[in-house]
Amino acid sequence: MRDGIFHLDRRPNISIQGQIREMLVSAILGRQLPPGDPLPSSRKLAKSLGVSRNTVVLAYQGLVDDGYLESRERSGFYVSDDIMEGRADEPVAPPATPDPRPNDGPDWTQRFQVRPSHQSNIEKPRNWLTYPYPFIYGQVDQSLFPIAQWRECSRQALGRKGMDVWTGDALAADDPMLIEQIQTRLLPRRGILARDDEILVTMGAQNALYLLAALLVRDETRVAIEDPGYPDVRNIFGLKTDHILPVPVDAHGLPVDEQLDGADIVFVTPSHQAPTTVTMPKARRQELLARAGEKDFVIIEDDYEWETNYVSEPTPALKSMDTAGRVIYVGSLSKTLFPGLRLGYLVGPAPLIKEARALRRLMLRHAPNNNQRTAALFLALGHHDSLVHKLQKAYRERWKIMGQALADHLPGWSKAPTFGGTSYWVSGPDGFDAGKLADRALDDGVIIEPGRVNFAQSRPPRNHFRLGFSSIVAERIEPGIRLLADIVKRDF
Ligand SMILES: Cc1ncc(COP(=O)(O)O)c(C=O)c1O
Repeated sequence: MRDGIFHLDRRPNISIQGQIREMLVSAILGRQLPPGDPLPSSRKLAKSLGVSRNTVVLAYQGLVDDGYLESRERSGFYVSDDIMEGRADEPVAPPATPDPRPNDGPDWTQRFQVRPSHQSNIEKPRNWLTYPYPFIYGQVDQSLFPIAQWRECSRQALGRKGMDVWTGDALAADDPMLIEQIQTRLLPRRGILARDDEILVTMGAQNALYLLAALLVRDETRVAIEDPGYPDVRNIFGLKTDHILPVPVDAHGLPVDEQLDGADIVFVTPSHQAPTTVTMPKARRQELLARAGEKDFVIIEDDYEWETNYVSEPTPALKSMDTAGRVIYVGSLSKTLFPGLRLGYLVGPAPLIKEARALRRLMLRHAPNNNQRTAALFLALGHHDSLVHKLQKAYRERWKIMGQALADHLPGWSKAPTFGGTSYWVSGPDGFDAGKLADRALDDGVIIEPGRVNFAQSRPPRNHFRLGFSSIVAERIEPGIRLLADIVKRDF
């Protein structure tokens, strides 16, 4: 049994010393090496693992320092007698497939008030990086990310000097440095001015939308959403009310007409309509604000994707034109930094932010302090602005290549005039099944996102799909679309 304990799998991301430590900790805490047991001599273990003796000695010494091992003079290393104190007996392993209703256990299905797992969601292969043609949306191109600068900011954020910032429980508060950076670096890019008490840091735009649904929506609340639109917003608000009003979008985004009347809340993505990517012109934004005043609805502006316009200047946010305090602005760092960071922000009237802050405290208190401080430093040192500039250049090139490739290989399939964003919305002929294409394409290494999930109706059109270009290098775009067109010709 002891022979089975001492072996290494050789993983690339952990040092050999770290792997030896992990192996021993796991054996000690897993009770395979009980307290008082001797360890092999460093020479013997080094030989059997095929590593240097020094590496083993250092690993042993580290475990002595941390109380896992004891070093006995002239005898060697032993598992500490007291390392397992204060632990309950090992629990019995649960069955491989849990019994849905064991004996007298509760009937959970009767207890759920909502069933979010029954909603349809966007799905993406987790191993998308291994595909040659990942036209996936919302992921990062690792080759463009300034990892050295990020790591340096992270190192500073986790420094001893700032220890009170990153170790402390801030309760409902945000990192003041991040608030200042949002105020001075992010919002002005979108034409928005906001006071401290009008900004809340959230765990991504997603968390901001959830907070708004919890604060503003109950059974009777009527929420107008774009159709096609962002499925998560339909799902989030759908947990709170049955009165979701899907409004079909046109070539300028959400139409401003009587379809919005009667709504309490209107959700909109004016910068690039999600998923069609069309930009709402300024005149329509003004109409939307005017109608919100006349009909007394509030607007949630989801500016999830930073401003890009590859043809002319980007349009300022709807929020920047809002003089009546009717627009709640949702921003995100997912598309410029990375979605795994989970940082976003909410900008709105102070009384709304006050409630959202109190609610966020109940949910999760605050976003992790070290992430907030790292992002704040990254912004303050100008790395974010420089990254946005770099991304803008790379994406403009990809946008052009993809537009041309679509025109050449799938002519007429991408109709709406788009100026920015990081994807194209593609529409096959009526009756075309983009879900089937997605499955076939995957076999040939091409990832596309079927658009069915973006529609609110129960029998959605199946002919649309989204092609993202944020994660695929320029040289792969044309060959990938050519391959996609070949699959269409071959199989459809
Ligand atoms: C339209 C839209 N809104 C919000 C989000 C959520 O963004 P975040 O990653 O900041 O939660 C996304 C994510 O892709 C999105 O597409």
